[in-house]
Amino acid sequence: MTSAVDQPTGGPPADAPEYDIARSVRCPLDPAPAMTARQKEGPLVRVQLWDGTLAWLVTGWEEHRAVLSDQRVSVDPMHPGAPKLSPGERAMVDTLRKQGKSSVGMSFIMMDDPEHSRLRRMATSAFTIKRIEAIRRPTQRVVDDLIDKMLDGPKPADLVEAFALPVPSLVISELLGVPYDDHDFFQRNSKAIINRDTPGEDRLTARQELLTYLDGLLGEKLTHPAEDLLSGLAERVRAGELTREEATEMGVLMLFAGHETTANMITLGTLALLQHPDQLALLRDTDDPKLIASAVDELLRWITITHGGLRRVALEDIEIAGHVIRAGEGIIPVNETANRDPSVFPDPDRLDITRDARRHVTFGYGIHQCLGQPLARMELQVVYPTLLRRIPTLALATVPEKIPFKHDGFVYGAYELPVTW
Ligand code: HEM
Repeated sequence: MTSAVDQPTGGPPADAPEYDIARSVRCPLDPAPAMTARQKEGPLVRVQLWDGTLAWLVTGWEEHRAVLSDQRVSVDPMHPGAPKLSPGERAMVDTLRKQGKSSVGMSFIMMDDPEHSRLRRMATSAFTIKRIEAIRRPTQRVVDDLIDKMLDGPKPADLVEAFALPVPSLVISELLGVPYDDHDFFQRNSKAIINRDTPGEDRLTARQELLTYLDGLLGEKLTHPAEDLLSGLAERVRAGELTREEATEMGVLMLFAGHETTANMITLGTLALLQHPDQLALLRDTDDPKLIASAVDELLRWITITHGGLRRVALEDIEIAGHVIRAGEGIIPVNETANRDPSVFPDPDRLDITRDARRHVTFGYGIHQCLGQPLARMELQVVYPTLLRRIPTLALATVPEKIPFKHDGFVYGAYELPVTW
């Protein structure tokens, strides 16, 4: 049921279409047909969510950026008007409210300024281009070792398990100072948080398990500091700049955001290239770092794994594209339609690794724009050319219709990708 506080504008208009992010089985790398249909209706469209509440779907590129850079817009999921995109998400927030909590405990990704900036600033130094370039070589070694192992193992192999998930998990574990041996544990709990269908209670348990785990690690770093990001946060706790709880939540955010997203991008980017042999050949045969970088951005744009919309709520009345978003109304900026906006990306449905796709919004926009994007870009720039060159005969070992896509996740991906060579 919809409560009065969650439905600030009264009952939904009879003609508000349903919010639907299911991608088509026939074109699983294109945006959901319902999202494309809304995009054709206009850059701002009202939709009805699963619980009958209304929200503004922002489908245009310009409007997407306008919303995400507007200080009158909040990211706080505890706000009564914030869109809840699944029953699990609502149940989790309701339980936390009952417990008297004022945040969902996922650190600054779900906070507004000035708190957001205060915390984000403490992690930025780990993600500067210089720091990331320094780990390009070790990342190359990780990628080569995993390919060696895959080539030594049985055929067909599951690319997700053998390669796409271990690469970013190993890299982020090393950067943060989290033992990779615990990867089953943190990957399982991250999955539970990210899946839309996870019931509220299970989502809370997964979140708590990660918090307890990171708190334990932080305790160790306080007594035995090392050269890693968690030790840096521990140092700030010691200096009184951060509470232990804040540092723990930041650790969870980075561990969680640092592997699930990039892993899905490795899987789907490889699939997209296998389905576009001309683009695959261009990327495989080039040594030009500019073309490699532009291929990565184009794959990020074209696939848009961060699909289904970000969540925001208006704190004041805001006028955009001839519509007034009233204070308290939910807003869902949609990355995948912004990334296929023909006024910014000509012939947007075509995968073209030579185009300049840098204005894509797969990493979001505004103050919450992805902190880890230099890391994600570097990993993908190492991964695709290495994989294609070292396994030139790489091929799908199943028919595309049988690939189990993550239709239940807010980050799109595939549960497995059988490949052979
Ligand atoms: C292909 C890979 C990735 C994609 C597509 C991606 C996408 C995103 C998006 C869309 C947001 C903004 C969410 C919003 O505005 O509500 C975000 C934020 C964030 N991402 Fe990523 N991400 C990726 C990889 C990473 C990695 C490797 C890290 C490393 C730790 C990371 C850390 C973060 C953090 C800390 C934030 C919060 C930023 C803030 O609120 O200020 N991400 N990411």
